[in-house]
Amino acid sequence: MEVVKTKFELQQCLSGKGKNMSVGFVPTMGALHKGHLSLVDIASKENDIVVVSIFVNPTQFNDKNDLDRYPKDLNSDLALLKTVNCDVVFSPEVDEMYPDKDDRIFNFGQLEKVREGKHRPGHFNGVAQIVSKLFDAVKPDKAYFGLKDFQQLAIIKALVKILNFDVDIVPCPIIREYDGLAMSSRNRQLTIEQRNESALISQTLIKARNLIHHKSVKELTEWVIKGINKSDMLDVEYFEIVDDENLLPVNNWDEPTVKVGCVAVYCGGIRLIDNIVF
Ligand code: PAJ
Repeated sequence: MEVVKTKFELQQCLSGKGKNMSVGFVPTMGALHKGHLSLVDIASKENDIVVVSIFVNPTQFNDKNDLDRYPKDLNSDLALLKTVNCDVVFSPEVDEMYPDKDDRIFNFGQLEKVREGKHRPGHFNGVAQIVSKLFDAVKPDKAYFGLKDFQQLAIIKALVKILNFDVDIVPCPIIREYDGLAMSSRNRQLTIEQRNESALISQTLIKARNLIHHKSVKELTEWVIKGINKSDMLDVEYFEIVDDENLLPVNNWDEPTVKVGCVAVYCGGIRLIDNIVF
């Protein structure tokens, strides 16, 4: 496994691997866990070379505190990546990715106006800025993104269309802890009590899935919000049942679309997201 810090080194390293090798790319912000590693596993089965980037992207944090306390531990990330089939790690400094201020504003229409876009203004624009720069640097054939960040995945697919990238976007399943909590780098910021209580989020979503024949969309939405808020430690920011294509809320179960329940919950100051396909 090679670790490179600059785009130049990355290009040298990839061109040294020979022609016609397919490149699979897994962009991350580090603080790696089994969710990230599952993306690397899938990428390694489908490509000759796997590149993982580790970069805590400042432009996607609309909250400076969140950026400051985002966990960073490159050595343990590298140790974890050595346990899977990762060939190249790209871990640039901020100046390498943003030598100049990036003023690009992307227009994702309604995709960025709802839920994560609404509650974290500028977040998806920052994600688009860094992912486009990473795609330019890595030039992957396929790039792997987790379904946990369901709206991010839709934004990335739109970005690929807007900028005409020649890359296949591969959605990957959500990896969960033993009690159902979706794995996340943010989970390690939780106290033991908060961590235990957070399992209520996915457990409520799973119970909700069994109730779709008994409750209307509106009733189920209220049921989920009430169920999670029952805990003194959890505070639902939003829960919505949406169309998996356009991400707009659905009003009844008869609509001929795949429906996904998307939730964001504050536990203390930590914001957790999850979703479930109904
Ligand atoms: P990060 O939160 O580090 O996540 C990197 C990738 O891992 C994303 O595609 C995310 O959806 C996926 N992932 C995280 N937790 C997962 C889980 N429990 N199961 C499956 N996949 C999971 O998402 C970002 O970084 C950044 O926004 C990034 C795309 C790297 C741009 O900065």
